[in-house]
Amino acid sequence: MKNPLSQRRLNPNGFGSDNFFMKIIAISGSSRDKKTNMMIELALKEQSNFEIIKLKDLEIKPCTNCKSCHQTYKCVINDQMQDLYPKLVEADLIILASPTYFDNVSGIMKNFMDRCLPFYFSGQLAQEKVALLTIGGFKEYIEYDDLGNCKWCLENNACQNSVDQCMQTMENFCRLLNLSIIGKVSAIHGDPLEKEKELKELGEKINVFRPAKKKK
Ligand SMILES: Cc1cc2nc3c(=O)[nH]c(=O)nc-3n(C[C@H](O)[C@H](O)[C@H](O)COP(=O)(O)O)c2cc1C
Repeated sequence: MKNPLSQRRLNPNGFGSDNFFMKIIAISGSSRDKKTNMMIELALKEQSNFEIIKLKDLEIKPCTNCKSCHQTYKCVINDQMQDLYPKLVEADLIILASPTYFDNVSGIMKNFMDRCLPFYFSGQLAQEKVALLTIGGFKEYIEYDDLGNCKWCLENNACQNSVDQCMQTMENFCRLLNLSIIGKVSAIHGDPLEKEKELKELGEKINVFRPAKKKK
C-alpha cells in the first residue's frame, strides 16, 4: 500500500517551495515501520509539507570525537548525516521521535544526536522549534494480572518511568542545543492510539507556529 504521508509531501526531493507551509522534518529513530512512525503520522495528520527521515535507512556513522567541529562547526565524516545538516537548519519545526530502548532513546537516535555536536558549537539551531515523541512497549514483554492490568504499572509505574527517562534524554539534547520544545508526547504499552488526542493537539499546536515569512 502506498504511504498516504509521502503522497501529501509537496516535493519528493524535500521541502516544497511554497513558503506558506511550515517546513517540518521528522526524525524517526525506530528500526521498524511500526509504533514510533505511527505516532509521527498521527501528529502530522493535518500537515502538508513535511519530510520523514527514517534513520534506519541511512548510513550515519558514530561521532569520533575528532573535535574538528569545535572550531569549524562542520562534521568531517562523509556520510548521509551531511544531507541532514542543511535540512535541520532549514526546518521550521523538527520532530524527534524515538522508541524507548532500555529507558533511553534508540541507538540510532543517540548516534544522530551525537552527530549534532556541530550545532552545539555553532548555535545554529538555537530557538528552533521541536516536538518530542516516544513510545515504550514493555507490555509486549511482561505479564498481566488476572484483571488484565499491567503488573509493571501497578507495582512501580515502571512503564511510564521508562518512557519518561527516554523523553528526558531528548529534552537534555534540546537544552544543550538551545532548541525550543513546543510539545512532547510519550506513549506506553506499545499503543500510540492511547495518545491519539495528545498527538492531535500537538498537530493543532504546530499549525499555530506557521512561519510569518520565508526562511532564508
Ligand atoms: C532493545 C530494546 C529495548 C527496549 N527497552 C524498552 C524499555 O526500556 N522500555 C519500554 O517501555 N519498552 C522497551 N522496548 C520496547 C519498545 O520500546 C517498543 O517495542 C516500541 O514500540 C518500539 O518502537 P517501534 O514500534 O517503532 O519499533 C524495548 C525494545 C527493544 C528492541
